[in-house]
Amino acid sequence: MPKKTSLQIKNLRVAIGKTKILNGVSLQVNSGEVHIIMGQNGSGKSTLLSVLMGHPKYEVTGGSVTINKKNLLKMSVPERAQAGIFLGFQHPQTVSGVTFGNFLRLARNSVAVAHNAKAMPIGPAPFAVLMRAEMEKLKMDSSFISRFINEGFSGGEKKKSEILQMALLEPAIAFLDEIDSGLDIDALKIVATELVEIQKKQGMALVIVSHNPKILDFINPDKIHIMSKGKIVAEGGKEIVHQIEQGGYDALIKE
Ligand SMILES: Nc1ncnc2c1ncn2[C@@H]1O[C@H](COP(=O)(O)OP(=O)(O)OP(=O)(O)O)[C@@H](O)[C@H]1O
Ligand SMILES: [Mg+2]
Repeated sequence: MPKKTSLQIKNLRVAIGKTKILNGVSLQVNSGEVHIIMGQNGSGKSTLLSVLMGHPKYEVTGGSVTINKKNLLKMSVPERAQAGIFLGFQHPQTVSGVTFGNFLRLARNSVAVAHNAKAMPIGPAPFAVLMRAEMEKLKMDSSFISRFINEGFSGGEKKKSEILQMALLEPAIAFLDEIDSGLDIDALKIVATELVEIQKKQGMALVIVSHNPKILDFINPDKIHIMSKGKIVAEGGKEIVHQIEQGGYDALIKE
């Protein structure tokens, strides 16, 4: 991964058909930073993340997104992954017939080769060692290596598997969409602690979408952004979340 990465979103506007969903989002994310995005249901948080990863169902109608000054919006999804972007889904998909271990190993090899054509692909046995070590930290059973992606995983297991992917793909910027939803209190602590450790170790930028103020017990963000109706309407530190807890989003959204 390039060591220093900077993502700049300027006045991004997005629609599906005639429905406008993002109405001018601006956000800058640099390596080493942790951002949290909060906001009402339907405010456009998942849309923003999907657009950054390149989901084809959205039409970008205005604004720009650059990664290290290159136009991200012109890149294919694999090119975005190779540029160091990772998305942990709010609702991870099941992929029957593909084992988690094979998927992750091939994805890691393809990112490594994109960065260095001479990189040696890692084989199944050494990769399983790496994967097991990370799974132990996340308290995941190693049997998941040979299970099909997300097939029959519980809600919390799916979320842990997104973190496992992030840990092993070593992205420059990871977007995690409600990574904490559906986790029990112990799992939240395990996942959040591991997230912080990986972020520090790899120096990546983390952007976490969450509805849960509890995550702030474990993660100390550089900035919290509040979305409403397709825009970022407030930014600040932890105090902003206390305001929301007391008065709801209405207390903060002055429009
Ligand atoms: N195909 C579509 N047609 C019309 N509207 C859509 C379509 N897909 C998404 N939307 C709308 O876009 C808005 C933003 O959705 P998005 O999933 O980004 O919200 P969110 O902030 O992630 O919400 P949540 O907190 O509930 O996950 C919603 O009102 C949603 O209904
Ligand atoms: Mg969402």
